[in-house]
Amino acid sequence: MILNPPVIAIDGPSGSGKGTIARRVADALGFHLLDSGALYRLTAIAAKNKGISLDDGDALALLARDLDIRFDGNKARSERILLDGEDVTLEVRQESTGAEASAVAGLTEVRTALLERQRAFQKAPGLVADGRDMGTHVFPSALVKIFLTASAEERAKRRHKQLKDKGMNVTLAALSRDIEDRDRRDSERSVAPLKPARDARILDSSGLSIEAVTNTVLEWVAEL
Ligand code: C5P
Repeated sequence: MILNPPVIAIDGPSGSGKGTIARRVADALGFHLLDSGALYRLTAIAAKNKGISLDDGDALALLARDLDIRFDGNKARSERILLDGEDVTLEVRQESTGAEASAVAGLTEVRTALLERQRAFQKAPGLVADGRDMGTHVFPSALVKIFLTASAEERAKRRHKQLKDKGMNVTLAALSRDIEDRDRRDSERSVAPLKPARDARILDSSGLSIEAVTNTVLEWVAEL
């Protein structure tokens, strides 16, 4: 019998630390990494570059299916992201891109178009996938499903620090509002809403260090 490479699904709201934890866990296990949010962000950027409206589901789906993306991986540093050969690393992380990603992510056509692309990341020796619907839709038979949360206040503060470290200028109040809006849109949409899978383990990272959260995830993986 051929077994599929194992998947560790890490879902949760924006600012919960999914991206950082997913990278640490993938590095520790030597697994591949899927930052699924980046695919929605890149779809939004490509649409803007090509003048496609962010509510044109059919055109966006075609675009999403054929996106020319390269993740220039380097485990020690954060990676560069290339779209059509152009470095869009900074633009991908901007808060405005997150909001646009959340808009295109609400369209069924776009989600369907990105499904196979995401599943193609499941390769030996294994995959750590981070997003909103990894455990519920994209990898329903993932070996471990984690729903990572943190208080809204702490998530806004973390995001603020992250963006400031990258030289981006946003106020904490504006960021809190953006995060609340995005949480609401992601949780209330009809297609693949943000919610824990029934068999997910909930991990509240409020007040915990990155190391502590990473170690908890690795312990849960080791228990299997
Ligand atoms: O995780 P990140 O902030 O990069 O995600 C950007 C947006 O993409 C989210 O607000 C969400 O609307 C969408 N997304 C999604 N499903 C995923 C990952 C991201 O709908 N698996």
